[in-house]
Amino acid sequence: MAEALPRLALPVEGPIEASSLFGRVAPLVLEIGFGGGEHLLAMARARPAVGFLGCEPFINGVATLLGRIEDEAVENIRVHHGDARDILERLAEGSLAEVHVLYPDPWPKKRHWKRRFIGTETLPGLCRAIAPGGLLRVASDIPDYIRWTLIEVTRSGGFEWMAQAPKNWRLPPEGWPGTRYEAKALREGRIPTYLDFRRMA
Ligand SMILES: C[S@@+](CC[C@H](N)C(=O)[O-])C[C@H]1O[C@@H](n2cnc3c(N)ncnc32)[C@H](O)[C@@H]1O
Repeated sequence: MAEALPRLALPVEGPIEASSLFGRVAPLVLEIGFGGGEHLLAMARARPAVGFLGCEPFINGVATLLGRIEDEAVENIRVHHGDARDILERLAEGSLAEVHVLYPDPWPKKRHWKRRFIGTETLPGLCRAIAPGGLLRVASDIPDYIRWTLIEVTRSGGFEWMAQAPKNWRLPPEGWPGTRYEAKALREGRIPTYLDFRRMA
């Protein structure tokens, strides 16, 4: 953490841009709540021309990811150790090609619903930061969170759900590397749902 984080962390203030982070113009993809970073790392390896940003408040997860970035000399990931809400406003309008929110904390009790990451507090910022035609991907094994996401994202007015057939939400997207939490959910008999939304022009 002491050595790698200062080098790989997003700047603490000012705009967050591909050119200053990666020294080149690049499409940006943000993963919110990357856990141990397995999915983020797999995406970054598969798409070296893309700049990946990851947010995670859980310190052990950040440390795990940093270790792997160092071991594998991955050059296209930058990390925010903290809440993704901190950085949304610092991203230029339309600067993100994709945002992935994979197995967000479900906050099942009604009095905690306001803590759910997908909601009226974050959707305007996500909508502003994602480029028209860009992707908002949400995966969850909690049916109520899926229902909630469909309602909240549709109600926000900025996105359309891209599914055309049940396989689109029942099967993972092509090339999906999985996540650590997803593997646990599957082991415990819970069924994931995958939602892809397109940012409307
Ligand atoms: C259930 S875990 C899933 C982790 C990982 N995506 C996976 O599928 O293995 C949810 C993660 O979201 C992180 N998280 C919760 N609120 C967050 C926020 N506001 N910004 C960024 N990450 C958040 C948590 O620390 C936790 O690691």
